Amino acid sequence: MFARRIVVVGSGYVGLTTGACLASLGHKVICADVDAAKVTRLKAGEVTILEPRLAELVAEGLAAGRLEFVLGARNAVADAEVVFLCVPTPMGSGGAADLAAVESVIAEVRELLPSGCVVVNKSTVPVGTAARVHELLDRADVAVVSNPEFLREGTAVHDFLNPDRIVVGSSAQDAAERVAALYAKLGAPTVFTDAPSAEMVKYAANCFLAMKLSYVNAMAELCERLGADVADVTEGMGYDRRIGQSFLQPGPGWGGSCLPKDTHALVQVAEAVDFDFMLLRASIDTNTRQRDRMVAKIRDAVGGVLDGVRLAVLGLAFKAGTNDLRDSPALAVAEKLRAEGAELVAFDPGIPAAVPGMTDAVRVVSDPYQAAEGALGLVLLTEWPEFRTLDWPRVAGLLAGKAVVDTRNLLDADVLRRAGLAWHGVGRSP
Ligand code: UGA
Repeated sequence: MFARRIVVVGSGYVGLTTGACLASLGHKVICADVDAAKVTRLKAGEVTILEPRLAELVAEGLAAGRLEFVLGARNAVADAEVVFLCVPTPMGSGGAADLAAVESVIAEVRELLPSGCVVVNKSTVPVGTAARVHELLDRADVAVVSNPEFLREGTAVHDFLNPDRIVVGSSAQDAAERVAALYAKLGAPTVFTDAPSAEMVKYAANCFLAMKLSYVNAMAELCERLGADVADVTEGMGYDRRIGQSFLQPGPGWGGSCLPKDTHALVQVAEAVDFDFMLLRASIDTNTRQRDRMVAKIRDAVGGVLDGVRLAVLGLAFKAGTNDLRDSPALAVAEKLRAEGAELVAFDPGIPAAVPGMTDAVRVVSDPYQAAEGALGLVLLTEWPEFRTLDWPRVAGLLAGKAVVDTRNLLDADVLRRAGLAWHGVGRSP
C-alpha cells in the first residue's frame, strides 16, 4: 500500500490521534487547526491532551517528516488525496448536534480541494450529514465518505491502532475503498455501507453503551434493595458472550464529551421523524437520577445532613486516565453536594490545580492526604487505580469521621475496614 497525502482538519483529541496514528502507519499527514497557539505548541511537539503514547507518536511523526501542523485548513489542502474532518460537533439548542464547525471548514476549503480528493467525516454527525457536506461542497469531482471513530479518551491511540472494526460509508465505491486502504495494515474487519448507515453506527454504538450503563446502575440500586451483590451479578452476566464483561461497572453515572451529547442528539433526531425513543430517554433519566442517588448515599453516610459538612473528594475527571471535565459526573455530584452546603476539598491525579471549566464548588489540592485532613467523610468519584493503594490507615487518621463513599466500587473494602473506616459502595452491602 502506498503512503497517502492526508489532511486532518481539527487537532482535538480525535483529530490529533487520527493524524499521529496515520503518520505512524507511514502516511504523510498535515494536521490543520484554527487555534494559532495550539498549532505553535504542536509544531514544537508539545501535546497538552493527556493521552498515552500520543506525544510520543507526534514526536516520531515530526522527526520523520511525516507529520506537519499548519494554521487554517485552507493552507493544508492544496495537495490532499484525503481530507478528514475532525472538528467539534457540540450539543446545539434542543440537544441536536451543532454542525457550524463542519460547515465553516467546507466553506473554507471547497474551492481549494484538488480534483479527485476524498472528504471524510470523522466527527460524530447526524444521519444525513454526508449528503449535506456533498451538497455544500457542490463538487462532482470530490467524493464524501463517512468513517466514524470509536476512540475512547485515555486509550485513543490504542483504540486507533487496534480497532474492533472500521466502518466506511459512501455511495462512491472507489472513494470508500481508498479510505479503507488507509487502515489496511491494522487488519480489522471493515464494514462497507452507505453514508447514512455509517453515521448511524456511531450513534447506535454510543447510545447502546449508555443504555448498558444505565441498566447496570439501575441493577445496582435494585441489588442494594434486595441484598444482592452487583459485582457478582455483573460477573455472572458478563460471561454470557452475548453480553460481555466490559462496560458493566456501576458508578456515579456516565458522562464525558460523547455519551451525553450523542444520546440527547439521537432522541432529538428520532423526535424529528415522529419516533419517541423511550428506551433512550429512560436511559438518560436513569443517569440523571444516578447522580442524585449518589448525593443521597453520601448524605446518609455522614449522618443525614450535608450543610456545613466538610468532605474530601477523590477524582473530578469524567473517568480515570483523563484530565477531561466535560460533563463529568464527578463534578455534577460535587455541585449538588455544594448546593446542600457541603464544603469540598478535592484531589485528582490528572488535575493538579483549579483549571478552566472547573466548578468553584470545590477547592482543588495537589495531595490526597491534604484533601482528607479534617473532613467528616471521603467520597471517591473517579476510578483512578492509584486510589486503591493510598495509605488508608493514614487517611483514617486524618479524617474527622469514618465514612468513605466509593461510587466506583474501586477500593478494597477489607483494607478500609481494617483501617477503621466505614466503606459504602454501589450495589453492594457495606
Ligand atoms: C465513548 C465510547 O466508549 C467510544 O467508543 C467513542 O468513540 C467515544 O465515546 C466518542 O464518541 O468519541 P469516552 O467518552 O472516551 O468514549 O468514554 P467511555 O470510556 O465510553 O466512558 C463514558 C462514561 O461511562 C464515563 O463517565 C465512564 O466513567 C462511564 N463508565 C464506563 C462507567 O460508569 N462504567 C463502565 O463500566 C464504563
